[in-house]
Amino acid sequence: MSKKLFIKTYGCQMNVYDSERMTDSLVSLGYDPVTTPDDVDMVILNTCHIREKATEKVFSELGRIRREKEARAAEGKPLLIAVAGCVAQAEGEEIVRRAPFVDLVFGPQTYHRLPELVREAEQKAVERQAASGGRGTRGAGVVDTDFPVESKFDFLPEERHASSAAAFLSIQEGCDKFCSFCVVPYTRGAEFSRPVAQVLAEARRLVASGTAELTLLGQNVNAYHGEAAGGEWGLGRLIRELAEIDGLERIRYTTSHPNDVDEELVAAHRDVPQLMPYLHLPVQSGSDRVLQAMNRKHDAAAYLRVIDRLREARPDLALSSDFIVGHPGESDEDFAATLKLVTQVGYAQAYSFKYSPRPGTPAAGTDLQVDEAVKSDRLETLQQLLNAQQLAFNAASVGAVQPVLVERTGQKDGQLVGRGPYMQAVHFPGPDRLVGKIVDVRIESGHANSLAGMAVTGEWDGVPDRTSRNPEHERAIA
Ligand code: 5AD
Ligand code: SF4
Repeated sequence: MSKKLFIKTYGCQMNVYDSERMTDSLVSLGYDPVTTPDDVDMVILNTCHIREKATEKVFSELGRIRREKEARAAEGKPLLIAVAGCVAQAEGEEIVRRAPFVDLVFGPQTYHRLPELVREAEQKAVERQAASGGRGTRGAGVVDTDFPVESKFDFLPEERHASSAAAFLSIQEGCDKFCSFCVVPYTRGAEFSRPVAQVLAEARRLVASGTAELTLLGQNVNAYHGEAAGGEWGLGRLIRELAEIDGLERIRYTTSHPNDVDEELVAAHRDVPQLMPYLHLPVQSGSDRVLQAMNRKHDAAAYLRVIDRLREARPDLALSSDFIVGHPGESDEDFAATLKLVTQVGYAQAYSFKYSPRPGTPAAGTDLQVDEAVKSDRLETLQQLLNAQQLAFNAASVGAVQPVLVERTGQKDGQLVGRGPYMQAVHFPGPDRLVGKIVDVRIESGHANSLAGMAVTGEWDGVPDRTSRNPEHERAIA
């Protein structure tokens, strides 16, 4: 009999990708994925440790699931609870101590061993349940947070579950940069690139199953240096090769580091039409002093030069970034430099956060911590500026015709939702069967977080396939 599996994913897109792979690998044990947590046999929380708030959310969710487990136990039914991802990696055994009803804890490097771990947890849970007269909720206590020598990617199941119009493809994991504030090098480990042949094979499989857009993922994706016949390939070379896959209409990548933007990558932005003109290139701060304290290994001028090179190659490139306010030692003057840089670049979209001390990272240990109220003030000021830039960018899209990859139907009847080249969500009316297709949409209104418009053609039967290689479409978005 099939069992129901619910995975709740926190944090970055890498976790979204990992959750999908976990789903794939548990099919062999009879687990079917469901989208709501009601009446399920197993819950996996795929967690994020990047900021304190993200970690807190996990423990409060665990409290809720515990009550669910108690209710099921009262009916004699088990509920297996697993904690995966970066909180699992960072806290390991501590989770089982704090939340003894958890059955399984496993880190991001061990999910290829998941079927084996789940089987072990299932077995132990049954034994404990029996020992408690069938009503116990004590967890199985299986913990695996190794950094194994073998690559988890070697064990990916051939089949990928539901394929979608836009899919993630993980090509790189971990980070060797050790920014002062960041837990990633500790939770995801040393930098690792998947071999080129493996990436290409997975990309071809995805495209064959209907995926039109791939987002290449990595914590430091442009540090990619995948093994290939005749030597290592960088990201630019990989993108060129991916662009040869027939039916792959769009390529994106995230997250990148300014120091790893090499000439080959810049050239890919110039030469590969499938590479979308939108780039998330985090800078974190505009102050040279803070950038140095953050161990970012570049200054503001170097970041701006990278952007100039990219814009020269692809003049319509839109940019996004991450910012941290209140890093230890950040003064008013430093913060003003961040605002200045934001004004100089002009972002289409950006994420900004208050600095959150992470145990074990260098910045957490200094006594130069910035007052919480000051952080809040700075965040508000920065977000006002970024929101205004985003709104202006969206408003400037009005009147343009954008090729939109339709991802799903919208909440309103007859409405479709997709993404334009610059990652903006675009809503427009049209029939369901356009999901997965690229449709030209004339943008009629630009809002804070989305655009709305009308498909250029009213003749659905002849909806043109607007691929990026279509010269007509090149003109349309120009
Ligand atoms: N505090 C606040 N923000 C952080 N980020 C990473 N670590 C921290 C931290 N300790 C942000 C950075 C990074 C993004 C994914 O999260 O801006 O680019
Ligand atoms: Fe973290 Fe990115 Fe810095 Fe690596 S480059 S330490 S992932 S912020």
